[in-house]
Amino acid sequence: MKFSEKKKKLLSLLANGDFHSGTALAEKLKFSRSALWKQINTLEELGIEILAVNGKGYRLKSPLELLNKSHIINNLTTTTRQLISVFDIHDQIDSTNTNLVALSRAIPKSTGVVCLAEQQTAGRGRRGREWVSPFGSNLYCSVLWQFQSGPESLSGLSLAIGVAVIKALNAHGIQGVGLKWPNDIYWQQKKLGGILVEVSGEVNGPCSAVIGLGLNLHLSSAEASSIEQDWVDISQILGSDHKISRNDLQASLLEQFFQVISHYTEQSFAQYRDEWRLYDCMQGQLVNLFIGNQVISGTVQGINDEGLLLLQTQDGKMQCYASGEVSFRRL
Ligand code: BTN
Repeated sequence: MKFSEKKKKLLSLLANGDFHSGTALAEKLKFSRSALWKQINTLEELGIEILAVNGKGYRLKSPLELLNKSHIINNLTTTTRQLISVFDIHDQIDSTNTNLVALSRAIPKSTGVVCLAEQQTAGRGRRGREWVSPFGSNLYCSVLWQFQSGPESLSGLSLAIGVAVIKALNAHGIQGVGLKWPNDIYWQQKKLGGILVEVSGEVNGPCSAVIGLGLNLHLSSAEASSIEQDWVDISQILGSDHKISRNDLQASLLEQFFQVISHYTEQSFAQYRDEWRLYDCMQGQLVNLFIGNQVISGTVQGINDEGLLLLQTQDGKMQCYASGEVSFRRL
Protein backbone atom coordinates (compact mmCIF):
# COMPACT_ATOMS: atom_id res chain seq x y z
CA MET A 1 0.00 0.00 0.00
CA LYS A 2 1.18 3.47 -0.91
CA PHE A 3 0.33 6.33 1.43
CA SER A 4 -1.18 9.51 -0.02
CA GLU A 5 1.32 12.28 -0.77
CA LYS A 6 -0.19 14.37 2.05
CA LYS A 7 0.13 11.62 4.60
CA LYS A 8 3.74 11.11 3.56
CA LYS A 9 4.43 14.81 3.82
CA LEU A 10 2.86 14.95 7.30
CA LEU A 11 5.03 11.99 8.35
CA SER A 12 8.19 13.54 6.99
CA LEU A 13 7.41 16.86 8.71
CA LEU A 14 6.91 15.07 12.04
CA ALA A 15 9.80 12.61 11.55
CA ASN A 16 12.44 14.83 13.29
CA GLY A 17 10.63 14.42 16.63
CA ASP A 18 10.30 18.21 17.22
CA PHE A 19 7.03 19.92 18.12
CA HIS A 20 5.02 21.27 15.17
CA SER A 21 2.04 23.47 15.81
CA GLY A 22 -1.29 22.35 14.38
CA THR A 23 -1.58 25.69 12.54
CA ALA A 24 1.84 25.33 10.90
CA LEU A 25 1.18 21.73 9.86
CA ALA A 26 -2.27 22.50 8.50
CA GLU A 27 -0.85 25.43 6.54
CA LYS A 28 2.08 23.49 5.07
CA LEU A 29 -0.17 20.62 4.05
CA LYS A 30 -3.07 22.82 2.92
CA PHE A 31 -5.33 20.91 5.32
CA SER A 32 -8.20 22.09 7.46
CA ARG A 33 -7.56 21.53 11.20
CA SER A 34 -10.11 18.69 11.22
CA ALA A 35 -8.47 17.01 8.19
CA LEU A 36 -5.12 17.30 10.00
CA TRP A 37 -6.60 15.73 13.11
CA LYS A 38 -7.96 12.83 11.02
CA GLN A 39 -4.54 12.27 9.41
CA ILE A 40 -2.86 12.33 12.83
CA ASN A 41 -5.31 9.62 13.88
CA THR A 42 -4.47 7.46 10.85
CA LEU A 43 -0.77 7.68 11.78
CA GLU A 44 -1.61 6.58 15.32
CA GLU A 45 -3.54 3.65 13.88
CA LEU A 46 -0.23 2.51 12.30
CA GLY A 47 1.21 2.32 15.81
CA ILE A 48 3.14 5.60 15.54
CA GLU A 49 2.99 7.31 18.93
CA ILE A 50 2.22 11.03 18.66
CA LEU A 51 2.15 13.42 21.59
CA ALA A 52 -0.25 16.38 21.43
CA VAL A 53 0.51 19.18 23.89
CA ASN A 54 -1.64 22.28 24.28
CA GLY A 55 0.19 25.38 23.08
CA LYS A 56 3.04 23.37 21.51
CA GLY A 57 1.39 21.13 18.94
CA TYR A 58 2.26 17.62 17.85
CA ARG A 59 5.45 15.62 18.02
CA LEU A 60 6.45 11.98 17.56
CA LYS A 61 7.30 10.16 20.77
CA SER A 62 10.50 8.95 19.05
CA PRO A 63 11.93 10.49 15.87
CA LEU A 64 11.76 8.37 12.72
CA GLU A 65 14.25 8.01 9.89
CA LEU A 66 12.04 7.00 6.99
CA LEU A 67 13.54 4.86 4.25
CA ASN A 68 14.84 6.90 1.37
CA LYS A 69 15.46 5.24 -1.97
CA SER A 70 17.94 7.75 -3.36
CA HIS A 71 19.89 7.86 -0.09
CA ILE A 72 20.23 4.06 -0.13
CA ILE A 73 21.12 3.87 -3.83
CA ASN A 74 23.71 6.65 -3.48
CA ASN A 75 25.44 4.60 -0.80
CA LEU A 76 25.82 1.54 -3.04
CA THR A 77 28.82 0.82 -5.21
CA THR A 78 28.37 1.06 -8.96
CA THR A 79 28.78 -2.73 -9.21
CA THR A 80 25.88 -3.32 -6.85
CA ARG A 81 23.70 -0.65 -8.49
CA GLN A 82 24.20 -2.42 -11.81
CA LEU A 83 22.95 -5.69 -10.33
CA ILE A 84 19.65 -4.12 -9.24
CA SER A 85 16.85 -4.12 -11.82
CA VAL A 86 13.94 -3.00 -9.60
CA PHE A 87 14.08 -1.21 -6.25
CA ASP A 88 10.80 -0.70 -4.40
CA ILE A 89 10.07 0.74 -0.99
CA HIS A 90 6.54 0.08 0.28
CA ASP A 91 4.93 2.17 3.00
CA GLN A 92 2.99 -0.90 4.03
CA ILE A 93 2.92 -4.42 2.59
CA ASP A 94 1.80 -7.87 3.75
CA SER A 95 5.33 -9.29 3.48
CA THR A 96 8.32 -8.33 1.34
CA ASN A 97 9.12 -12.04 0.88
CA THR A 98 5.54 -12.92 -0.15
CA ASN A 99 5.62 -10.04 -2.64
CA LEU A 100 8.82 -11.28 -4.32
CA VAL A 101 7.78 -14.96 -4.26
CA ALA A 102 4.62 -13.89 -6.16
CA LEU A 103 6.73 -11.86 -8.59
CA SER A 104 9.07 -14.78 -9.28
CA ARG A 105 6.04 -16.96 -10.08
CA ALA A 106 4.43 -14.33 -12.30
CA ILE A 107 7.65 -13.38 -14.13
CA PRO A 108 10.03 -16.34 -13.64
CA LYS A 109 13.12 -14.63 -15.06
CA SER A 110 12.99 -11.70 -12.64
CA THR A 111 16.28 -11.06 -10.90
CA GLY A 112 18.00 -8.29 -8.97
CA VAL A 113 14.74 -7.12 -7.41
CA VAL A 114 14.87 -5.32 -4.06
CA CYS A 115 11.74 -4.93 -1.95
CA LEU A 116 11.84 -2.96 1.31
CA ALA A 117 8.99 -1.89 3.55
CA GLU A 118 8.32 0.51 6.39
CA GLN A 119 5.80 -1.93 7.81
CA GLN A 120 4.65 -5.51 7.18
CA THR A 121 1.14 -6.56 8.10
CA ALA A 122 1.86 -10.28 7.64
CA GLY A 123 5.63 -10.55 8.09
CA ARG A 124 6.72 -14.18 8.05
CA GLY A 125 9.41 -15.93 10.04
CA ARG A 126 10.70 -19.47 9.67
CA ARG A 127 8.35 -22.36 10.44
CA GLY A 128 5.23 -20.31 9.79
CA ARG A 129 5.91 -17.90 12.64
CA GLU A 130 4.87 -14.26 12.55
CA TRP A 131 7.64 -11.67 12.15
CA VAL A 132 6.68 -8.62 14.21
CA SER A 133 7.01 -5.67 11.81
CA PRO A 134 5.88 -2.30 13.21
CA PHE A 135 6.09 0.90 11.15
CA GLY A 136 9.26 2.83 10.48
CA SER A 137 11.63 1.49 13.09
CA ASN A 138 13.22 -1.81 11.95
CA LEU A 139 14.44 -3.17 8.63
CA TYR A 140 12.37 -5.53 6.48
CA CYS A 141 14.23 -6.35 3.31
CA SER A 142 13.92 -8.97 0.55
CA VAL A 143 15.97 -9.56 -2.57
CA LEU A 144 14.96 -11.79 -5.50
CA TRP A 145 17.79 -13.37 -7.47
CA GLN A 146 17.80 -15.97 -10.22
CA PHE A 147 20.61 -18.54 -10.08
CA GLN A 148 21.56 -20.66 -13.07
CA SER A 149 22.08 -23.74 -10.87
CA GLY A 150 19.34 -25.76 -9.15
CA PRO A 151 17.99 -25.41 -5.58
CA GLU A 152 20.35 -28.15 -4.31
CA SER A 153 23.30 -25.79 -4.88
CA LEU A 154 21.86 -23.18 -2.53
CA SER A 155 21.78 -25.20 0.70
CA GLY A 156 24.30 -22.93 2.44
CA LEU A 157 23.08 -19.64 0.94
CA SER A 158 21.18 -18.50 4.02
CA LEU A 159 24.26 -19.15 6.18
CA ALA A 160 26.42 -17.11 3.80
CA ILE A 161 23.83 -14.30 4.05
CA GLY A 162 24.24 -14.48 7.83
CA VAL A 163 27.94 -13.70 7.37
CA ALA A 164 26.99 -10.80 5.08
CA VAL A 165 24.68 -9.38 7.77
CA ILE A 166 27.45 -9.54 10.41
CA LYS A 167 29.88 -7.72 8.08
CA ALA A 168 27.35 -4.93 7.52
CA LEU A 169 26.66 -4.64 11.26
CA ASN A 170 30.37 -4.57 12.11
CA ALA A 171 30.92 -1.80 9.57
CA HIS A 172 28.47 0.30 11.59
CA GLY A 173 30.19 -0.37 14.92
CA ILE A 174 27.79 -3.09 16.04
CA GLN A 175 30.11 -5.71 17.51
CA GLY A 176 29.64 -8.97 19.35
CA VAL A 177 26.90 -10.23 17.03
CA GLY A 178 26.81 -13.97 16.38
CA LEU A 179 25.05 -16.52 14.20
CA LYS A 180 22.81 -19.25 15.51
CA TRP A 181 22.39 -22.09 13.07
CA PRO A 182 20.78 -21.97 10.66
CA ASN A 183 19.49 -18.44 10.13
CA ASP A 184 19.38 -16.38 13.28
CA ILE A 185 21.33 -13.23 14.08
CA TYR A 186 22.07 -13.28 17.80
CA TRP A 187 23.53 -10.98 20.42
CA GLN A 188 24.18 -12.24 23.92
CA GLN A 189 21.78 -15.19 23.45
CA LYS A 190 18.98 -12.90 22.27
CA LYS A 191 17.57 -12.70 18.78
CA LEU A 192 18.43 -9.54 16.85
CA GLY A 193 17.32 -10.64 13.41
CA GLY A 194 16.36 -13.53 11.20
CA ILE A 195 16.84 -14.67 7.61
CA LEU A 196 14.20 -16.44 5.54
CA VAL A 197 15.34 -17.82 2.18
CA GLU A 198 12.64 -19.24 -0.12
CA VAL A 199 13.87 -21.14 -3.17
CA SER A 200 11.89 -22.46 -6.14
CA GLY A 201 12.99 -23.95 -9.43
CA GLU A 202 14.09 -26.95 -11.45
CA VAL A 203 16.53 -29.58 -10.13
CA ASN A 204 19.27 -28.66 -12.60
CA GLY A 205 18.39 -24.98 -12.63
CA PRO A 206 17.61 -22.27 -13.07
CA CYS A 207 16.08 -21.45 -9.72
CA SER A 208 14.93 -18.32 -7.95
CA ALA A 209 15.66 -17.38 -4.37
CA VAL A 210 13.93 -14.77 -2.28
CA ILE A 211 16.28 -13.75 0.51
CA GLY A 212 14.48 -11.98 3.34
CA LEU A 213 15.99 -10.28 6.35
CA GLY A 214 14.24 -8.81 9.36
CA LEU A 215 16.47 -6.82 11.71
CA ASN A 216 15.34 -5.20 14.96
CA LEU A 217 16.53 -1.60 15.20
CA HIS A 218 14.04 -0.33 17.70
CA LEU A 219 11.18 -2.38 19.13
CA SER A 220 9.08 -1.18 22.05
CA SER A 221 8.13 -3.80 24.62
CA ALA A 222 4.49 -3.34 23.63
CA GLU A 223 5.31 -4.10 19.98
CA ALA A 224 7.40 -7.09 21.02
CA SER A 225 4.83 -8.53 23.42
CA SER A 226 3.92 -11.38 21.03
CA ILE A 227 7.55 -12.48 20.48
CA GLU A 228 8.00 -15.77 22.28
CA GLN A 229 11.77 -15.79 22.54
CA ASP A 230 14.40 -13.52 24.06
CA TRP A 231 14.95 -10.61 21.67
CA VAL A 232 17.15 -7.56 21.41
CA ASP A 233 17.35 -4.53 19.12
CA ILE A 234 20.21 -2.30 17.94
CA SER A 235 19.14 0.58 20.22
CA GLN A 236 19.65 -1.67 23.24
CA ILE A 237 23.03 -2.87 21.97
CA LEU A 238 24.39 0.59 21.22
CA GLY A 239 22.71 2.49 24.06
CA SER A 240 21.10 5.89 23.75
CA ASP A 241 24.27 7.89 22.92
CA HIS A 242 25.08 6.09 19.71
CA LYS A 243 22.59 6.29 16.84
CA ILE A 244 23.01 4.69 13.46
CA SER A 245 21.34 5.67 10.23
CA ARG A 246 18.67 3.22 9.13
CA ASN A 247 19.28 4.11 5.47
CA ASP A 248 23.07 3.74 5.74
CA LEU A 249 22.71 0.36 7.42
CA GLN A 250 20.19 -0.78 4.80
CA ALA A 251 22.62 0.22 2.05
CA SER A 252 25.48 -1.72 3.68
CA LEU A 253 23.25 -4.79 4.01
CA LEU A 254 22.31 -4.65 0.33
CA GLU A 255 25.94 -4.16 -0.64
CA GLN A 256 26.95 -7.28 1.29
CA PHE A 257 23.93 -9.31 0.06
CA PHE A 258 24.70 -8.61 -3.58
CA GLN A 259 28.36 -9.52 -3.10
CA VAL A 260 27.27 -12.92 -1.81
CA ILE A 261 24.51 -13.70 -4.29
CA SER A 262 26.31 -12.51 -7.40
CA HIS A 263 29.23 -14.88 -6.70
CA TYR A 264 27.42 -17.69 -4.91
CA THR A 265 27.12 -20.33 -7.62
CA GLU A 266 30.81 -20.42 -8.38
CA GLN A 267 31.99 -20.11 -4.77
CA SER A 268 29.19 -21.90 -2.85
CA PHE A 269 29.24 -22.14 0.93
CA ALA A 270 32.88 -23.31 1.22
CA GLN A 271 33.96 -19.70 0.71
CA TYR A 272 32.07 -18.54 3.82
CA ARG A 273 32.48 -21.60 6.04
CA ASP A 274 35.50 -20.42 8.07
CA GLU A 275 34.01 -17.00 8.62
CA TRP A 276 30.67 -18.50 9.67
CA ARG A 277 32.53 -20.56 12.27
CA LEU A 278 34.07 -17.39 13.71
CA TYR A 279 30.59 -16.07 14.47
CA ASP A 280 29.04 -19.37 15.57
CA CYS A 281 27.43 -18.60 18.93
CA MET A 282 26.46 -22.23 19.60
CA GLN A 283 29.86 -23.91 19.35
CA GLY A 284 30.32 -26.24 22.33
CA GLN A 285 26.87 -25.43 23.75
CA LEU A 286 24.43 -27.99 25.10
CA VAL A 287 21.29 -27.74 23.00
CA ASN A 288 18.02 -29.40 22.09
CA LEU A 289 17.37 -29.83 18.38
CA PHE A 290 13.67 -30.03 17.48
CA ILE A 291 12.80 -31.82 14.24
CA GLY A 292 9.03 -32.21 13.95
CA ASN A 293 8.02 -34.05 17.13
CA GLN A 294 11.52 -35.36 17.75
CA VAL A 295 13.89 -33.71 20.25
CA ILE A 296 17.60 -34.53 20.03
CA SER A 297 19.89 -33.40 22.84
CA GLY A 298 23.59 -32.90 22.31
CA THR A 299 26.59 -30.62 22.17
CA VAL A 300 27.10 -28.44 19.10
CA GLN A 301 30.33 -29.20 17.25
CA GLY A 302 29.89 -26.53 14.61
CA ILE A 303 28.89 -26.98 10.99
CA ASN A 304 30.32 -29.10 8.19
CA ASP A 305 31.43 -27.94 4.74
CA GLU A 306 27.86 -27.98 3.42
CA GLY A 307 26.57 -25.89 6.32
CA LEU A 308 24.90 -28.84 8.10
CA LEU A 309 24.79 -28.78 11.91
CA LEU A 310 27.16 -31.18 13.69
CA LEU A 311 25.79 -32.45 16.96
CA GLN A 312 27.46 -34.84 19.36
CA THR A 313 24.65 -36.74 21.02
CA GLN A 314 24.74 -38.01 24.59
CA ASP A 315 25.97 -41.46 23.48
CA GLY A 316 29.05 -39.77 21.98
CA LYS A 317 27.97 -40.18 18.32
CA MET A 318 28.46 -37.32 15.88
CA GLN A 319 25.47 -36.66 13.59
CA CYS A 320 24.81 -33.96 11.03
CA TYR A 321 21.43 -32.29 10.48
CA ALA A 322 20.11 -30.29 7.56
CA SER A 323 17.12 -28.70 9.30
CA GLY A 324 15.52 -28.19 12.67
CA GLU A 325 15.18 -25.64 15.40
CA VAL A 326 17.89 -25.37 18.03
CA SER A 327 17.37 -24.09 21.53
CA PHE A 328 20.03 -23.60 24.18
CA ARG A 329 19.67 -25.89 27.18
CA ARG A 330 19.88 -23.87 30.33
CA LEU A 331 21.53 -25.80 33.14
C1 BTN B 1 13.14 -15.95 11.17
O1 BTN B 1 14.07 -15.76 11.95
O2 BTN B 1 12.17 -16.64 11.50
C2 BTN B 1 13.19 -15.33 9.81
C3 BTN B 1 12.59 -13.94 9.82
C4 BTN B 1 12.57 -13.26 8.46
C5 BTN B 1 11.80 -11.97 8.49
C6 BTN B 1 11.97 -11.19 7.21
S1 BTN B 1 11.34 -9.55 7.34
C7 BTN B 1 11.54 -9.34 5.62
C8 BTN B 1 11.09 -10.63 4.97
N1 BTN B 1 9.65 -10.64 4.80
C9 BTN B 1 9.06 -11.55 5.56
O3 BTN B 1 7.83 -11.74 5.60
N2 BTN B 1 9.97 -12.24 6.24
C10 BTN B 1 11.31 -11.77 5.98
